[in-house]
Amino acid sequence: MTSSDWMLVLLRVAHSVAAVVWLGGGVYFFLALRPALQEADSAGQAVVAAAQRAYGEWAQIATIVLLGSGVVLTFERLSDNTGGLTYVALLAAKVLAGVWAFALVRVRLRSRRRRNQRSSSELILMLGFVAFTLGIVLATLYGRGFIAQ
Ligand code: HEM
Repeated sequence: MTSSDWMLVLLRVAHSVAAVVWLGGGVYFFLALRPALQEADSAGQAVVAAAQRAYGEWAQIATIVLLGSGVVLTFERLSDNTGGLTYVALLAAKVLAGVWAFALVRVRLRSRRRRNQRSSSELILMLGFVAFTLGIVLATLYGRGFIAQ
């Protein structure tokens, strides 16, 4: 393996860890925090809000890592020119889902209105899952074997 192969491994690890952090926070919110919020008193709500704020900072870092590593991985994968049109179409759908999810998070953070928050957080999580699943599909079906048997 060359040093650029190692660099690629590092990028993929960074991308995958950031994906877990980004998506894991959303899953935890849905499965644990949101149900707990419904029964929480004002002190409990304040704790959840503080936890959300703290995790939000990690989610922002994960977004930057996903975008940065994603752009480099996209160039790397498209430059070896082996995937064909299906690969490009699936990758485009994946990037679109990811960027759409990031944009919705941004809109949500800026918006002071909370009325549509439930549906938009479901859509964000769903788009994140689409990006995640397509990433796994692409890496599995089109990943190149570095090490000769
Ligand atoms: C919510 C956002 C995202 C999630 C959850 C996500 C998740 C993933 C996962 C789990 C993989 C498989 C990693 C591996 O096994 O190597 C992957 C691969 C990849 N992702 Fe993302 N990703 C997101 C956003 C993005 C964005 C915004 C871009 C581009 C700007 C991008 C570009 C790529 C590329 C090029 C690959 C490699 C595909 C291949 O191996 O052929 N991702 N992603």
